[in-house]
Amino acid sequence: MTEFYISPTDKPLRGTLRVPADKSISHRAAILSALADGTTRIENYLQSETTRATLDCLRALGAEIEQADAATVVVRGRGLHSLREPGDVLFCAGSGTTMRLLSGVCAGQNFLSILDGTPALKRRPMARVAEPLRAMGATILGRDNGKLPPLAIRGSNLRGIDYTLPIASAQVKSAILLAALFANSPTTVCEPSLSRDHTERMLKACGVNCELRIANCEVRVHPATSLPIPNSQFLIPSDFSSAAFFLIAALLAPQSEICIQAVGVNPTRTGLLDALARMGARVQIENARAESGEPIGDLTVRSGELNATEISGDEVPHMIDEFPILAIAATQARGETIVRDAQELRVKESDRIGMLAQEIRKMGAQIEERADGFVIAGPTPLHGAIVHAHNDHRLAMSLAVAALVARGETVIDGWECVADSFPNFENTLRQVQ
Ligand code: S3P
Repeated sequence: MTEFYISPTDKPLRGTLRVPADKSISHRAAILSALADGTTRIENYLQSETTRATLDCLRALGAEIEQADAATVVVRGRGLHSLREPGDVLFCAGSGTTMRLLSGVCAGQNFLSILDGTPALKRRPMARVAEPLRAMGATILGRDNGKLPPLAIRGSNLRGIDYTLPIASAQVKSAILLAALFANSPTTVCEPSLSRDHTERMLKACGVNCELRIANCEVRVHPATSLPIPNSQFLIPSDFSSAAFFLIAALLAPQSEICIQAVGVNPTRTGLLDALARMGARVQIENARAESGEPIGDLTVRSGELNATEISGDEVPHMIDEFPILAIAATQARGETIVRDAQELRVKESDRIGMLAQEIRKMGAQIEERADGFVIAGPTPLHGAIVHAHNDHRLAMSLAVAALVARGETVIDGWECVADSFPNFENTLRQVQ
């Protein structure tokens, strides 16, 4: 296990930086390219453990994929019905997105696929994808009565369904929408509130008949015969969820000002900006533009005083991956920050309520754990400590940001998990220090 030793920053954070490519969009670009006819160049594909796992699984399903250079992946797709039975288990590493999205694809194939992953992934709930995919006609077996990985999926001729998700989830929604491409009639998915909509945007861009009724959080997808990728390329923006660590670091380290370039600012992802605006933070989106159907912009942030806020309801899915880093900001904000309706955090890469509370308390945070969220009282001075990442990249990087503004040195045990989304975090941090 790798330890990361991190001292408080002795100077403001300044400069212009880029963070790695969007993880969610990278997975989706690889999957859609493997199902397309012809060659697709994916520019700025995220180089991480999780997105590599998706490429390896797609190769095992018969797609021809080449890493052309450090940031470019070339996929030679042979069409929607070109996949073949893998000779071995599809290893999804620790990636919930890989397992859930590929379950949707595999459900549409007339062969057997077995999806497995790391011990951490084996603990993540899969009934949420298995149930709707079974309703579409796939046979899915898994441990614990079909609820846990490994999953064995035997696809067949799928039928379209009308399905209401019990909880907002882009992974589950995307699994159903991908399976829907192979069905014999349209499929409608309705969510209690809108989760990230990258799959819908990308399917639409690829000519799929995909009707969005955003006000009802509903999407209807018609079966497809082919997936023409616009200009035969995807350009992946930088990941807002990775930028979030630097946004908060610059907000908290006095006299800081940084600009993070070409970040995806899809409104279904930027709930943190809304919460930060209420907290009094100054974050500007400049040079707003669109790439491959996704809004992007340069984010400029200056340090400043923060006030507490409350987050609940529809806002939760729009910042579902940002609660660990929001918690670090909340320790330095005046008043009580309250998070509700976020019980999903308990089944992420770690229990992101329990482990977050356990670890930031070691650094002096005042946090009360609740079943569906937490309450943090601030501002409290943080101090260095020996903390643990619990195999959760976002918890690891949030602890690193806390360490930057703490008194004394912090040791983060299990640091290697940052490779899941942000392998060069330390170098990027050095660039602005
Ligand atoms: C993701 C959706 C979210 C998010 C995860 C990536 C995706 O998960 O937490 O990091 O790419 O669709 P849920 O769908 O489980 O909310």
